[in-house]
Amino acid sequence: MFLAAVLGCGLALTARRGRAQGGSGALFPNDLGPTTIDVSSYPKPYQDTYKVFRFKCAACHTIARPINSEYLEVTGAELAALKRKMPEAFQETALLRPEVGIWKRYVKKMMAKPGCPVGGDGKRIWEFLVYDSKVRKIGLHLDNPAKLGAWKHFRWELLQKFKAENPKRFQELYPRCTSFLLCTGS
Ligand code: HEC
Repeated sequence: MFLAAVLGCGLALTARRGRAQGGSGALFPNDLGPTTIDVSSYPKPYQDTYKVFRFKCAACHTIARPINSEYLEVTGAELAALKRKMPEAFQETALLRPEVGIWKRYVKKMMAKPGCPVGGDGKRIWEFLVYDSKVRKIGLHLDNPAKLGAWKHFRWELLQKFKAENPKRFQELYPRCTSFLLCTGS
């Protein structure tokens, strides 16, 4: 906990420096979005994990970073079905990035960082992220075009805000995105 607190302080300092230069200090478009999720309709175990997630994954950056991420984890079979049924889910990877095992990989990456407090909660946080990303970005059964449309629009607005604030960092993150609708490929 001590280490996490120290890292948190470092981040607060960085953020303040960013603001002094005129921006919010956000490193990712995700950082400019909401820092809460409405989990009231989620099954109880996920509601419990949400509390752990909010606390542990906010040790180094705000929880906005995972909450507003483009990542959507699917299984191999889900990926194949989605490609058939909703090809538009793959059009702009900066808005939505469906990929097998993507949250598992990122949770592991975060856990490998020095001072990460996630510990034994990694698996349940990963499961929460898989469930939550489906529910909010495309529908639990990966079959809700209206939800996908709303998600893409939301994420597009975040990217626009971020680009206006920090065009140089935007270019680094999305070298292929000369226009927002040309973000194919990763
Ligand atoms: C020990 C510090 C630390 C903790 C704890 C931490 N992160 Fe991160 N996170 C980082 C750093 C640093 C980055 C910047 C990119 C990188 O280094 O991968 C980052 C970036 C991210 C990104 C954006 C990655 C991208 O390239 O788009 C996501 C999503 C993310 N973290 C999710 C999480 C989740 C989920 C948790 C909890 C399981 C978590 N983080 C806990 C340090 C941390």
